[in-house]
Parts: sequence; structure tokens; C-alpha cells
Amino acid sequence: RAYQAAFRPLPKLAPYEVSWDDGVRVEKYSVSARAGMAQILPTMQTPVIGYNGMVPGPTISVDRGTRVHLRVRNKLEGLQYPDHEQHSHSSGLYLSTHLHGHASLPEFDGYADDRTAPGFCKDYVYENDQPARSIWYHDHATHLTTRNVYSGLAAQYHIHDEAERALLPQGEFDVAMTLSDIMFEADGRARFDDKDHSGLWGDVILVNGQPWPVMKVQRRVYRIRLLNGSISRSYKPYLSTGHAVHMVATDGGLMPATQSVTSWRHAPAERYEFLIDFTKYAPGTQVRLLNASNDKNVDFDHTNKIMAFQVTDAPVDTSDPTWKTIPQTLVPSDVMSLKTSQSSRTRYLQLKKSDVTNIWNINETTWADVIASGYTKVLADPALGAVEMWDLHTSSGGWFHPLHIHLVDFQIVSRNGRAPFAWERGPKDVAYVGPDEKVRVLMRFDREGRYMVHCHNLPHEDHDMMGQFRVGQPGD
Ligand code: C2O
Ligand code: CU
Repeated sequence: RAYQAAFRPLPKLAPYEVSWDDGVRVEKYSVSARAGMAQILPTMQTPVIGYNGMVPGPTISVDRGTRVHLRVRNKLEGLQYPDHEQHSHSSGLYLSTHLHGHASLPEFDGYADDRTAPGFCKDYVYENDQPARSIWYHDHATHLTTRNVYSGLAAQYHIHDEAERALLPQGEFDVAMTLSDIMFEADGRARFDDKDHSGLWGDVILVNGQPWPVMKVQRRVYRIRLLNGSISRSYKPYLSTGHAVHMVATDGGLMPATQSVTSWRHAPAERYEFLIDFTKYAPGTQVRLLNASNDKNVDFDHTNKIMAFQVTDAPVDTSDPTWKTIPQTLVPSDVMSLKTSQSSRTRYLQLKKSDVTNIWNINETTWADVIASGYTKVLADPALGAVEMWDLHTSSGGWFHPLHIHLVDFQIVSRNGRAPFAWERGPKDVAYVGPDEKVRVLMRFDREGRYMVHCHNLPHEDHDMMGQFRVGQPGD
């Protein structure tokens, strides 16, 4: 069954209104979270919940400095998840929308308990004033995130700028991919089997909603923006030819320098942008993107493959210099220029399952504790403008935890005291904290407010490995 579906580009969302406000371009978008049907399997349809009913959701693509107004309507009246006791609304499903990788104001950050009830909508405002990056918007409602995202409430969002345009392929050679895994019931419905909240594992790998697709490529360099949108699965991708890919950007945009790697670890919510050089292959060659078994994932017969590229004999436009260019020097960002000597404080975050309650937590704190405290309990309280170093450590039962810190881009300083992996030497907002690893990250807190920090294995997040930090002394 593998390598038969045709690769599909992600759908795009157009603004319904464009205007100018004091020299700032303003684009207005609207999406409705609603039920729909997706054609994933050749012969059966799968019921989904998506932005505008689509899975994957429609991509928003803007220039840096554009102000975006995004209205998210909750059209999930009358929907309930089976056996979902907690935190449902009596007339449907709650939503909260997080733009993951954007430094949003607290009121627009998709705070888990800032929920939009069925039949209502919320307007989010995003300034997009950070460097170009591949980010994504997805649901974040308390205890519903796993179900809502698995049902389809996730989509990419791209910020473009001059620096990235000058260096990297654009247009049809700039290809966004969202990776996910799913398991089906015999009737085509998605099966939800979140074993003891340790993870949700599918036996079918999807790229942009298609199982193990094949993409036709020209004999030129392509830029791939790869988001791991899986609920729990991490990947270790590699090319069947053994050749390297050329990493050019991480979660928060361009790396200072290109890193060529033959394989990398890719946890849920991480984004890697890389170049693949197809000039070296003869027309007719099939180059497969495969997946090596990695940490504590549940593998199935075909989870060792992701997709294939079919090299064609289509003529290449050689007037576009990116056709054969692998730039080596990229762009130094503020966060990658931070020095550990600027840090005013080192904190320690331990990610584990409680021996007493058996619940996932961070420093023995759960989201339930945050709620019980009236949202006053915090894991950290950096001053506005402070630079801090956080040591992220996981020590329980062989688990890996992709830890996401909202608001900031961080630099990975070290992993178990050694240099970070080549592919993670760029701005990050998710750290892959592998079994028994200690990951040291460095960042600056530039905006006041309360923000979440959590594991991005979503069953861990929902049960209940999520806390918050407070920057400065916000007046709420
Ligand atoms: Cu992608 Cu707090 O999430
Ligand atoms: Cu986790």
C-alpha cells in the first residue's frame, strides 16, 4: 500500500480583508472549527474535525510585520467525544487556539483555560514581528487537546521575510509537510486508543493527510518545511540513498549556519526546514524518506517509512539560482547570539511521572494544581527582560518528553553536558528531552504575562504534564 497516494500540498487560507493601519498591513482571516469528511483511505471517508472542516487545516502565510486578525468560530455544537467525562461543555466541545512558535500577547496565546464555548468565536491578534519561521496553530483546550488535535484541529502558519527569501527556494520549491500517524477502525473512522495516557500511536503514517505519499520532484534543490504534527510519535527520518539533508531552519527560523545530517530526531511539534539536493539523481530514481525506530515509540509494520520522492525529467529553470545552491552561512538570530554568561539564573525542571499519584508532572506540579491555585502557581517567575538558563531533565521509565516553552525562542546550550546535535543548532521552542537526558536551554523573556510550559506528547500534556511561568508582574 505504501507509495501509491499522490502527495498533496497543504491548502492555503486567503485573507477576507486587507487594509492598512498607520503603515502596518492588516490581514483578516476567519476559520470555523467544524466537522467534515476527509479522503485519507482510497475507498472510505474519515470523519474529522478541522479548521473549515479540512484536515490538514489551511495554511496562513504572511510577511513579517503584517498584523493578522484571526477569528476562530466554534461550530462544534452537538459534538461530544465518547467516554469523555471531563471538561466537556454540555452542548458541544470547547476550543482554545494556540499559535505555536509566535510570541503572542497572553490573551491571544491559546491559554488552555481560555476556552471558547460551542456557538461562540474568539478574535486573535498576531503581530508577526519575529524573524521568518514555520509555525502552526492548533487546539489547546484543557484535557481536550489530544482529541481535538487528533481529530484534525491543526494547521501550518508561515512568516516570510527578506533574509529567508534571499537564501532559500520559494513558491512550488518551498514545500510544507505535516507528518502525523493514525489508526483506523474497519469503517474508516479514526480509532482513539490512548493507553494509560502514555501515548497515542497510529500504524499509518500520513504526510499532509495522505498515507505514505509519492511526490514528483524536478532535478533541483527543494526546501522542505517538516512539522511533526503527530500526537505522540517521534521520528528519526533518513533518506534511502544515505545522502545528507541540509538543515537550514529550526522551530524559530534560520540557523546561523547550515548543518548537513544523514538523520535526525524529530519530536512532536518540532519543525525542521531542510534542503534536499535532487540534482544528483537520474530521472526515474525513487528517493524514500524512511523512519528509524526511535526511543519509546510503538512501532508497526509500516511505521518505518514516511514517503517517497520520484525524480522526473521535467526541465529545471536554471535562471533561479536556488536550483542548485546549498547556502552554508545563514543568519545569526538574537537568541543564537545569547551567551550563557548573560544568564541571571539557572532553574531546574524535572519531567516525570509521580511515584505517588502516577500522573505526569513537571517538578511535581500538574495543570490541576495550577487550576486549584486559582492560576497563581508558577514553575518560574523571570523578570521582564531576564535571560535564564533552564535545565530540563527526564528520568522516568525510558520516556522522552518534547518540552515546549511558550512565548520564547531558546538556544539549546548542551545535552548531557555535551554540544547539542548538529540539527538543533538553531532557534527552538521545543526541546527533545530523551530518556535520562539533561537539556540546558537559554532564553530571554521579553513579554509580561503568564504562559504555559508543557510536554508536547499530547496525552502527557492533557494528563497533566503542564505548568505555567510568569514573566514580570503583569497587572491581572
Ligand atoms: Cu503546540 Cu502549548 O503547544
Ligand atoms: Cu511527555
